[in-house]
Amino acid sequence: MIYLDNAATTFPKPNRVIRAVEKCLSEYCGNPGRGSHPLSLIAAEQIYNCREALSSFLGVEAPERILFTQNTTHALNLAIKGLLKRGDHVLISELEHNAVRRPLYRLGAENAVTFDTFPVVGLPEEAILQGIARRIRPQTKAVICTHASNICSITLPVAAIGAFCHRCGLKLIVDAAQSAGILPIHLKKMQIDALALPGHKSLYGIQGCGALALGEHFLPSPLWEGGSGVDSRSEEMPTEPPERYEAGTLPTPAIVGLLEGVRSLQEEAPDSIAKREKELFVAAKERLLSIPGIHVYAPRQEGAVLLFNKQGVPSVAIGKQLADRGICVRAGLHCAPLAHQALKTPPDGAVRISFGRYNSLADLDALWKALRAE
Ligand code: ALA
Repeated sequence: MIYLDNAATTFPKPNRVIRAVEKCLSEYCGNPGRGSHPLSLIAAEQIYNCREALSSFLGVEAPERILFTQNTTHALNLAIKGLLKRGDHVLISELEHNAVRRPLYRLGAENAVTFDTFPVVGLPEEAILQGIARRIRPQTKAVICTHASNICSITLPVAAIGAFCHRCGLKLIVDAAQSAGILPIHLKKMQIDALALPGHKSLYGIQGCGALALGEHFLPSPLWEGGSGVDSRSEEMPTEPPERYEAGTLPTPAIVGLLEGVRSLQEEAPDSIAKREKELFVAAKERLLSIPGIHVYAPRQEGAVLLFNKQGVPSVAIGKQLADRGICVRAGLHCAPLAHQALKTPPDGAVRISFGRYNSLADLDALWKALRAE
């Protein structure tokens, strides 16, 4: 198998992550924060270690401001629904995933919240900021945007958007599903109020947990209530993060995997992984464009994700043909119809290849051969 679907989930995982998860399951996986016996205490300590590692990796003020969620989508729902009130208006980029679009449609259907979309594709930073400025209304409360698109190599100037939002008194919520572990992130310096991330993509943990990182002045209303392991007599959730937001048992093995994934990145320098993924982008683009009929979307910005189509062939047919040859890619709309509309792909979408730390030029040669053979 040649795996070029790392934007969906990275594969394979580093051996040290697999070993850490196995050790957790076989040696100490008690319920964290739910007992004073050693297995619960060790699990709780590992969860705190992960909060600490993530907060230092992401420039977050305190480990307690890392909230564990099931995935990025849950983290975005918490930030969006925990912040917005009836009558609020927000601005989102034209590249947003359904994880942002659908919660806002739901709030819109309840006549609670309205939103407008600002353009990004092909625009320099200044024009993106002007597009946001032009759409601000008295009711505008926040900008919600992806850091890196999940369908192409476009990234948004999040630090500049953060500085702009704070000058205008707006909150900034960032979807880092495709950037965490690849692009540098520092919540404080980039003036991000809330950042949602997955454990299982470029941070190299396993599926089962994500996180919402909270900036200094952002405390959304909780979305879930239940046991927190502290102050059990109270009818209400605790008032402080993280317990205020983490009702029920946390996925300890996934959090332990995420901790090991972050440690591996810190030791192996994410800069070099990002540089390598850009090199793979350039090499893949050269190979694809040498095949007649292939069109690459947003070809000028280099990144970990490349989107293409072949004239006259539906994207899902290409995805299937590649799968039959043992090459894993993702075709279609990638849960991001807004972004496909912005890039003007056909109604059935396009084919996405996405790189990870273990891909090589040989993988791209195999892709090229398979596409030429079709
Ligand atoms: N959001 C993930 C993707 O883009 C699953 O494939």
